[in-house]
Amino acid sequence: MYSIQPVDTPEFTDIHWRKLYGLLRELKRKHKSYCADRSPGEFRKRLLKSLSAEPHYYHSCVFEGTAVVGWINLHVRNQGTQDQLVYAHLDVAPEMIPNRLAGTLARWVLGYLEEYAAPEFYLPVWRTGLMAMAESWYGEFIACCDNNVLHRADANRDLIAKWLRDLPAANPGLRLVFTDDIDDDLFEPYVALFQQGLYDMPEEVESGMSRKLDPDELKRTIRAERETGVIMHQALILDSHNRLVGVSDVLVNRKNPGEIHQLMTAVERSRRGSGLAKWLKAAMFDYLEREVEGFESLNTWMRAINEPIQAINKKMGFVVERTGREYKIPRAGIEAFLEKGPAQTPGE
Ligand SMILES: CC(C)(COP(=O)(O)OP(=O)(O)OC[C@H]1O[C@@H](n2cnc3c(N)ncnc32)[C@H](O)[C@@H]1OP(=O)(O)O)[C@@H](O)C(=O)NCCC(=O)NCCS
Repeated sequence: MYSIQPVDTPEFTDIHWRKLYGLLRELKRKHKSYCADRSPGEFRKRLLKSLSAEPHYYHSCVFEGTAVVGWINLHVRNQGTQDQLVYAHLDVAPEMIPNRLAGTLARWVLGYLEEYAAPEFYLPVWRTGLMAMAESWYGEFIACCDNNVLHRADANRDLIAKWLRDLPAANPGLRLVFTDDIDDDLFEPYVALFQQGLYDMPEEVESGMSRKLDPDELKRTIRAERETGVIMHQALILDSHNRLVGVSDVLVNRKNPGEIHQLMTAVERSRRGSGLAKWLKAAMFDYLEREVEGFESLNTWMRAINEPIQAINKKMGFVVERTGREYKIPRAGIEAFLEKGPAQTPGE
């Protein structure tokens, strides 16, 4: 009675898009789940754009009969290399979890794991029912993730102003600039710093997950977002030789700038502990207040164990709105689930 259908096919019609959008709104209202907060038409345009930009990105909709009850996507990075990474996201209507749907979803994922000869995939989940499903697939816990949100009205303005006053003075020889269209000559250093930040992000359990960035993919993603009106803005700190030593970036949807997503904040290893991340984050907040009409909140995702960035966020006024978990799910676990049934969790 459940079925899964790709969204980028002629069979996925206007009615399906509207239903999928309706489900996303509902999940957001009830569970603060992710939702592209824009019209159904723009949501469709942006999703189709990112699917066409990325050859190894798949997005499907979950049906129960004709009702849309969920979505699932899967992305393969560095395909076919030793750095291959298979990452999935999913969300379903709460009444469908934990296990009623698990078999259908497991078969969908298994098809891709076979196609890409992948021994495992990674899955972040934000609700207990979905965590139970990941565990029933023999998923291994990797890390807790926090969704931190700074509501503009709750920002610690005095502290932000103090950081903006003190930190440039405490770091002579460094300058901070903003861009909403990074120069070609800075793109490579930006990728290198982003990559270093990814490598240095802590894990609770060593998972072996590939963190290798694909610079071409990053470029394509930024371009595809821009073409649908979602602009990446960056705060960059440069030294006196114009070397990039710090970055913080956000995505602003021009048509709906209320909820802004902050992506990576990274400081070059040798410069950490000098207040540069505080400077970057304070400056970005100040910039968004000045430059983006309608800005209401700043939203960011991070591992709970990442103490320096959690400390900065807390001081600025960010609050944790959702806590999730990230799992590594072995292909053998999915196969065992389909053949023998759910893994027994401790205590059962
Ligand atoms: C996280 C990161 C950006 C911080 O950059 P930074 O320039 O060293 O940070 P700052 O010097 O501005 O501030 C660090 C703050 O965290 C605090 N801190 C550092 N380690 C901490 C710990 N273990 N527990 C609690 N607080 C800690 C510091 O005390 C400091 O605050 P304070 O000066 O007010 O006391 C940097 O470590 C980095 O690039 N990490 C890799 C990428 C990453 O994890 N990015 C964040 C996720 S997007």
